[in-house]
Amino acid sequence: MPNVKTAVPYCGTPEQEEKLRQVIAAHKGQPGATMPVLQAAQEIFGYLPEEVQIMIAEGLDLPLSEIYGVVSFYTQFSLNPKGRYQISVCLGTACYVKGAGDILQAVEQKLGIAPGGITPDGKFSLDACRCIGACGLAPVMMINEDVYGRLTPAQVAPILDMYK
Ligand code: FES
Repeated sequence: MPNVKTAVPYCGTPEQEEKLRQVIAAHKGQPGATMPVLQAAQEIFGYLPEEVQIMIAEGLDLPLSEIYGVVSFYTQFSLNPKGRYQISVCLGTACYVKGAGDILQAVEQKLGIAPGGITPDGKFSLDACRCIGACGLAPVMMINEDVYGRLTPAQVAPILDMYK
């Protein structure tokens, strides 16, 4: 079985689970059911933790490994809950050689979370990402749609403070 553990404990409600059961029932037996069910599940729960993947696998009579394979392949799906402000630090090659590792570390230190994590108040979530096509601005960090480029570690804390 693949390791589909997430960094944050699952806390879905019975109402959310019932909604998911209805979505599964509506798609069960149809070809190509996996994608629409996963998309609906992510809308219901905000992310796709192991528990939700198991419900989908059992509901659609598919191996969990197949569900996990789809979830981990498409960037639209998330294994972890997202904060109100979603931080992505680019660890693509251009950013990495310009010190993206130090940027990531500065974010981790400021917020006390690692990639895949979310602050207890739900305000910030942190992810490392691949090249976002702004290599000329390396190293780059995104917060929701805002792009910050040519960053130094010292700039990280003041930028994050703007979102408080
Ligand atoms: S490697 Fe970071 S934007 Fe391209």
